[in-house]
Amino acid sequence: MRLSSRISLATAVTTALAGIVVVLPVTATAATSRYEAESAPAVCDGAVASNHSGYSGDGFCDTSNAVGSAVGFTVNAATAGTATLAFRYANGSGANRPGDVSVNGSVAQNGLAFEATSAWSTWATRTLTVQLNAGANTVRLAATTAGGLGNIDYLEVTTGDGSGDDTVMRGADVSTLQRAVDLGAKYYYANGTQGDPLDILKSAGVNYVRLRIWNNPRSGYNNKDEVLQYARTVKAKGLKLMVDFHYSDTWADPGKQFKPAAWSSHGIGQLQTDVYNYTYDVCNSLKAQGTTPDSVQIGNEINTGMLWPEGLVDNSNFTNLGLLLKAGYNATKACNSGTQVVIHTARVESGARWFYDGIRSQGVQWDVTALSYYCYWHGSMSGMAGVVSDMKSRYGKPVILAETAYPYTTANYDGTDNIITASQPCAGHSATPSGQQANFAAVQNTSRNAGATGVFYWEPTWHAVPGNGWDPADINNSGNGWENQAVFDRNGRINPNIRWLP
Ligand code: GCU
Repeated sequence: MRLSSRISLATAVTTALAGIVVVLPVTATAATSRYEAESAPAVCDGAVASNHSGYSGDGFCDTSNAVGSAVGFTVNAATAGTATLAFRYANGSGANRPGDVSVNGSVAQNGLAFEATSAWSTWATRTLTVQLNAGANTVRLAATTAGGLGNIDYLEVTTGDGSGDDTVMRGADVSTLQRAVDLGAKYYYANGTQGDPLDILKSAGVNYVRLRIWNNPRSGYNNKDEVLQYARTVKAKGLKLMVDFHYSDTWADPGKQFKPAAWSSHGIGQLQTDVYNYTYDVCNSLKAQGTTPDSVQIGNEINTGMLWPEGLVDNSNFTNLGLLLKAGYNATKACNSGTQVVIHTARVESGARWFYDGIRSQGVQWDVTALSYYCYWHGSMSGMAGVVSDMKSRYGKPVILAETAYPYTTANYDGTDNIITASQPCAGHSATPSGQQANFAAVQNTSRNAGATGVFYWEPTWHAVPGNGWDPADINNSGNGWENQAVFDRNGRINPNIRWLP
């Protein structure tokens, strides 16, 4: 998104495909199975005990107080894919009792924290998302410190996410939400009940959260510390996490890619080290606290490169950008090989092949091709579909729309003008709650039918809250030009019909 520039909409599109909503079949449903730790097929290194209340089944596994003491489970999955593991445990020791989680013999998570609960009879749940094979899988939780594990009651395994095919990315970029909540913003279900904003989004189908990260924004938000903190909230809800590296202290988009101030004097050699070290550090810090990112974007809307001027693609020369993207890819994979590397441009309108061919010719590797698609800027839905399907077949990788949005009103609820003001920004969809819903459904269905793996709505929770402005250099006073494109209205109530489709 380009927020700080009021770009001309003279070329905005008027040919969006109107009114076509295809409901796709649900291809997987959620299933949760419980495996008690005290009974076979579980294997408990220690003693089965029942001397503290509150357990389920016949007791719990009280592992020996030693490094490596473990509980092993055999769990079944109907199909291969992601699954959420939920360990129920009690830890009255007063200190963290971390453990390594292995799935089918490979470590899925080092040192997953099992923080102290207030008593041995107080049980809590720790979750982790992993990949399972179809059929039987072994899951092993092994202590990494001499205290051993807490007492383990059971493991619950949920395959699918409760609302559809878990391989589909139903995303929400909620990067401004943390501050909104800090400022006291409230969020409501359609029926008027107040709720946690992530729970409300989940009930509308969201399974993936995207968070941008700036190196050193003056606002003190969207930096490493805040992303680490918010990642815990996101993962505790069982949501997947994408971290969107801007490699800047402020907005990076097609019109500007300012270097972070701390890197301003660095040339291309040092910038490769900077990108590697920064990416690795953020990813590894997330991993260390048990919130490994499921995906990371190396750069944001890098239509003509990032970290300008060194990383600018000038005269179709992709050499420097290639070096920077490889540094980001290598850092991510060194942190966690399972984290997907996303390369994101806003090139639906033109030049998608030019860009991705350009980085490919430099030997850049990536896992997911990501495009922004705002119909009022980036052309017709059929044009978008053509690019999605071309990207998928040309590079053989999943394609997502990493950003989209649409207004539900033309009203302005703060002192800052809205970026999109038209009453019908794209053909067939008025700036009303039903127009917003229909446009988002059409974007999802059109891209999915063209082969896309998912769509992320950009800033659905950013209704106008004084003090949560767009400019990280003046967050208190800069206002919000996006509140009419949030899916929560001025009072924080969700658009009743908006859905992230299964
Ligand atoms: C106490 C407690 C046990 C627990 C143990 C431990 O003995 O009663 O249930 O497992 O501490 O430190 O692991």
